[in-house]
Amino acid sequence: MLVDLAHWLVLPAPLSLRRLGYVGESVRLASRSRRCRAAWAPHLAAAKGTVRAAMEGLDRRDTAVVLGSGLLDDVPIDDLARAFRRVVLVDAVHPWRARWRARGRANVTRLTHDLSGTEGLLLGRRDALEPVLPALCREADLVVSANLLSQLPILPVARLEAAGRLGSWTDAEAFGRRIVAAHLDALAELPARICLVTDRDETEEDRDGRVIERLDLLYGVDPGPAPRGWDWVLAPFGEASRETRLVHRVAAWPDWRPA
Ligand SMILES: C[S@@+](CC[C@H](N)C(=O)[O-])C[C@H]1O[C@@H](n2cnc3c(N)ncnc32)[C@H](O)[C@@H]1O
Repeated sequence: MLVDLAHWLVLPAPLSLRRLGYVGESVRLASRSRRCRAAWAPHLAAAKGTVRAAMEGLDRRDTAVVLGSGLLDDVPIDDLARAFRRVVLVDAVHPWRARWRARGRANVTRLTHDLSGTEGLLLGRRDALEPVLPALCREADLVVSANLLSQLPILPVARLEAAGRLGSWTDAEAFGRRIVAAHLDALAELPARICLVTDRDETEEDRDGRVIERLDLLYGVDPGPAPRGWDWVLAPFGEASRETRLVHRVAAWPDWRPA
């Protein structure tokens, strides 16, 4: 707990994104990924394999953009840095672990950006959603959305639920759906190859394998049929609860296009 607090204090991030809770989420993600290293290993390997498959057969390898780069746990950063002239990591927070992993790679840069388009709305500076992707995505040859999609609505929806209203938004489900759909719509408009890796739903299971609860993490938005999929044991028994575990179903596309 004290280690997490110290980590939170020293993590470089703009005050606005810190106020919105992104630094706290990043610190919790780092702690959980350490605790669940063994349970997460197959998921991280499968996600990296999808990104490597996405790198194959590209006509040009100038710029790769990684959206939701986070800890770089599920991103083969060395392969990307070797293959592309430049690699741009985009996230609300760039944790120390990711900075360390990309150290010495002069062609890897970081961009701090809110990819949900809700920052202004949440801070009361705007009434409407903003464009979700940085302009440089239009110049990229490969854009990777790395286990980001399901994460985008979490903090904005929690804030709407707490406030009751944000601009003209009052319906949390519709707000979550809009955020998820806006990411896919923006990806669909890019000329780049899109590599999409995302968890789609969460099941809570007991020790006999009975499903206690199932949650659609994408608010009913369907990115289409996926060529790859696997289970990610997000919280093994003993992590969130002694008697249940949380399993996420992941879908992955080395070359995603809307259905
Ligand atoms: C589950 S992690 C993705 C894992 C990451 N690819 C890795 O290897 O560690 C989700 C990432 O999405 C980022 N994220 C969530 N909401 C965001 C937002 N609105 N804008 C930018 N990044 C966001 C988080 O900071 C986090 O790093």
